[in-house]
Amino acid sequence: MRIIETVVAMRSERASLTSPVALVPTLGGLHAGHEALLGAARERAGTVIASLFLNPTQFGENEDLDHYPADRERDLAVMRNAGVDVVFAPSVGEMYPPGDAFTVDPGPIGEILEGAHRHGHLRGVATIVAKLFIATRPDLAYFGEKDAQQLEIVRRMSRNLLFEIEIVPVPTVRDGRGLAMSSRHAYLSEEERSAAEVVYRSLRCAREAWNGGTHGSSALEGVMRTVIEAEPLATLDYAAVVEAATFEPIPEPDSGASVVSRTAALALVAVRIGNTRLIDNVRLD
Ligand code: PAF
Repeated sequence: MRIIETVVAMRSERASLTSPVALVPTLGGLHAGHEALLGAARERAGTVIASLFLNPTQFGENEDLDHYPADRERDLAVMRNAGVDVVFAPSVGEMYPPGDAFTVDPGPIGEILEGAHRHGHLRGVATIVAKLFIATRPDLAYFGEKDAQQLEIVRRMSRNLLFEIEIVPVPTVRDGRGLAMSSRHAYLSEEERSAAEVVYRSLRCAREAWNGGTHGSSALEGVMRTVIEAEPLATLDYAAVVEAATFEPIPEPDSGASVVSRTAALALVAVRIGNTRLIDNVRLD
């Protein structure tokens, strides 16, 4: 496994790689969700590049950049075990040289849900993913379905900015209690970890309601809100039901609009458990 720290060296390495080349971007703090991304990439690609870069521009001022649970040696060991060929691990100065002010703006989809609660976050994600795409020029790039809005933004960016990279979604990995794997679990006490089960429970309740014939977004959002508000350690940021392809709210059943293709709705929640913010989603179909 080669570890590369500059864009110039990455570009020259890229010229010698066996196709297809897959990129798995990471912030570090690797867990079973990342292992699933790396495993899926390893199955299909001739060369797997994993990036290891704690991107400052996607963290807000009061967020957890300074405490992010990344451990370089551990992360490299996980990557090595997963069969990664090349790790691209640039410094902040390498990716954002002084005076570098250009950003990638995802447009309106970057302003809702995560974008409304974490200002600038999705612009920071789009900007770094674009830079990683340009530095590594992958044929395939792997992203987890847990970050559904990020995944949709990366898909649109790849199309709109003509990257022509196949964006491969990988299903969310859950622990035995249903919690979607996240680096942020490291912050949870045992009591908070139990409380965090409410996140997936609320989504399962939305799915049950959907399967039972409730297809209006406000009714489904109400179901999720009720479940989350019953957990004293949880504070809801948002609960939403949107069309998966557009991220637009699904029409209310009595609105006269034709019922959305029912195979394509997403229920999403963002919840704070103490100081830890967790997101998750499920498809409703
Ligand atoms: O999902 C993440 O870990 C990050 O947002 C990503 C895609 C690595 C960009 O920094």
